[in-house]
Amino acid sequence: MGIKATIVVLGGDGIGPEVTREGVRALQAIASRYGHEFTFSEHVIGGAAIDETQSALPAKTLSACGTADAVLLGAVGGPKWSDPKAKIRPEQGLLALRKGLNLFANLRPVTIHPALLDVSPLKPEVLRGTDIMVVRELTGGIYFGEKRRTEDFASDLCTYSVEEVTRVTRVAGRLAQGRRKRIVSVDKANVLETSRLWRATVEAVLGAEFPDVELEHMLVDSAAMHLIRKPSSFDVILTENMFGDILTDEASMLAGSLGLLPSASLGAGKLGVYEPIHGSAPDIAGQGIANPYATMLSAAMLLRHSLGLNEEAAAVEKAVAASISAGVRTADIAAGGAVASTSNAGEAVVSRLLG
Ligand code: IPM
Ligand code: MN
Repeated sequence: MGIKATIVVLGGDGIGPEVTREGVRALQAIASRYGHEFTFSEHVIGGAAIDETQSALPAKTLSACGTADAVLLGAVGGPKWSDPKAKIRPEQGLLALRKGLNLFANLRPVTIHPALLDVSPLKPEVLRGTDIMVVRELTGGIYFGEKRRTEDFASDLCTYSVEEVTRVTRVAGRLAQGRRKRIVSVDKANVLETSRLWRATVEAVLGAEFPDVELEHMLVDSAAMHLIRKPSSFDVILTENMFGDILTDEASMLAGSLGLLPSASLGAGKLGVYEPIHGSAPDIAGQGIANPYATMLSAAMLLRHSLGLNEEAAAVEKAVAASISAGVRTADIAAGGAVASTSNAGEAVVSRLLG
């Protein structure tokens, strides 16, 4: 039996609208193939929203997201709104959306397509076997602490509570139980008080509730190194907001391109925001050359985590993998071969889903 779902689409800025278009096409293909009824509604966020409403997250957008089943998002930001003196920035829209919907757990899977082993700057023998799930805390830490600024002084406060660490640790614990049952918790406990609380809390929660999951603590500088040295040694990486942001851009180079990594931002319920981890890439916006696979893979995560459609999610993932295998590659992963456009790549996935 088919299901009904309301999906809010937030294209945002730069390449955002181009890649979300392909994500929507994948979802439409799934709906028609499996007999579901998805209703899409588009809203503004980020720079586009600032231009239209003077706000990076208009109340209308937030309330539409809050009552939807899921949100598919492109990216926000761009040079037009990057004046350091600007009062409102596009990024505030994204942060306010995550906070407003209480999406505290950000899942960023890193897998490597065998055909792309030579696209990564790392050696194939280092990459082989890599399959990582990064769980990034998303609504706390230095991103959301009090900010101060005078002419000659600035500060960003980093805070974490036991409750904030506990709930994201549970997400990581459950994911680890469905995988290889290993968590590396990344912090900077040799320097930061928040990291010492993080470490103690992760240990207590996993010890009490997930005794079958093996835990290792790792300092973030060391983790950055090991991620390149031996990426296949990681299963689940659990970390705070800013470390997770930085480490996942690094990890995207394992997969070969920032244009391949999807993400899911989840809270206590089923509602989630799904977005590629790459940004708005203003330098290539509007040219139809951006890689849509990260967004299409984010749509797969949407099907799995918000709509409970596991088979459909796997179908999208399989169609993306098959398109890559067939050599349908945008410029970022073409490695000197034929170059596909954004819509060529989207079409390759859609035709596999429908065919
Ligand atoms: C990401 C982005 C955002 C972040 C920016 C745009 C605020 O880099 O989702 O990784 O830092 O979280
Ligand atoms: Mn980032």
